[in-house]
Amino acid sequence: MKVTIDHVSKMYKDKVAINDVSAELTSGVYGLIGPNGAGKTTLMRMLADVLKPSSGRIMADGEDIKQLDDLYRALIGYLPQDCGFYSYFTAYRLLQYVAALKGLNRHDADRKIDELLHLVNLTKEKHKKIGTFSGGMKRRLGIAQALLNDPKFLILDEPTAGLDPKERVRFRNLLSEISGDRIVLLSTHIISDIEYIAKEVLILKNGQLLKQESPQSILNELNGKVWHVTVPAIELHKLEQHYTVGNVLRKGQEIEARVISDTAPAPTAVLQTPRLEDIYLCYFGEISGDTED
Ligand SMILES: Nc1ncnc2c1ncn2[C@@H]1O[C@H](COP(=O)(O)OP(=O)(O)O)[C@@H](O)[C@H]1O
Ligand SMILES: [Mg+2]
Repeated sequence: MKVTIDHVSKMYKDKVAINDVSAELTSGVYGLIGPNGAGKTTLMRMLADVLKPSSGRIMADGEDIKQLDDLYRALIGYLPQDCGFYSYFTAYRLLQYVAALKGLNRHDADRKIDELLHLVNLTKEKHKKIGTFSGGMKRRLGIAQALLNDPKFLILDEPTAGLDPKERVRFRNLLSEISGDRIVLLSTHIISDIEYIAKEVLILKNGQLLKQESPQSILNELNGKVWHVTVPAIELHKLEQHYTVGNVLRKGQEIEARVISDTAPAPTAVLQTPRLEDIYLCYFGEISGDTED
């Protein structure tokens, strides 16, 4: 399947949330990154067909999803950012319920539910109440419900927010396992989530798509721009005024910092090999991290 986003914009009254975004997605994992308010959820809701673009169109294999309607929705799986499951439902009941909404018959649903519970490692919790689940377990259940109809296009809005590092690694492995020939679009502001698994990164800022490229080619562009600097601690403020400053480490009277700059920010600055985290610093001027709100 190929999904085409064709000059899509979305306004909320006079606020432009998505500004003329065009992109093409084929099979593989895509990481949609951007700080809070960048427009990730708005874009994903339009792709999930729960929100209509103000202008532009979205196409699946060349056909407008407006025309495809139910046919399109049958092809997608969606995990919303804030998906509050009924806490008094068991995992099994919830999946049964979603399966019914998606039109699966009871027999197929039961088979699929067992298969998916196994995939997301919740077989033992099948009959436990969701209210007793950890954040990671809820997210994994969220993935399972999104996969019930075996979607060709899986849309996951910040699926790793609030997960601890161990759960996050498990989640990343699960994603690469299920990607196969699907399109998986996942939004995050934690760059390490998409390291190793993303075919392409989409960088969204103020509703605009700044870039859609492979992680490697974005890293290549950062070559020669990432520096390690040691300066007296009292000069940190000056450094921050002139440059984008990432992780700062205080060592006695001095500080060591990672700095993004086209030219050497200090005579003793040493060039560094860019890391994926530097993308965040470079494009958004802040450190990538879990700032769940
Ligand atoms: N229902 C809404 N009404 C008005 N403004 C909204 C609404 N939803 C989102 N916005 C605004 O649109 C922008 C993009 O929001 P959102 O898509 O949620 O971004 P993200 O998911 O990247 O944090 C933000 O400025 C947000 O305040
Ligand atoms: Mg969001």
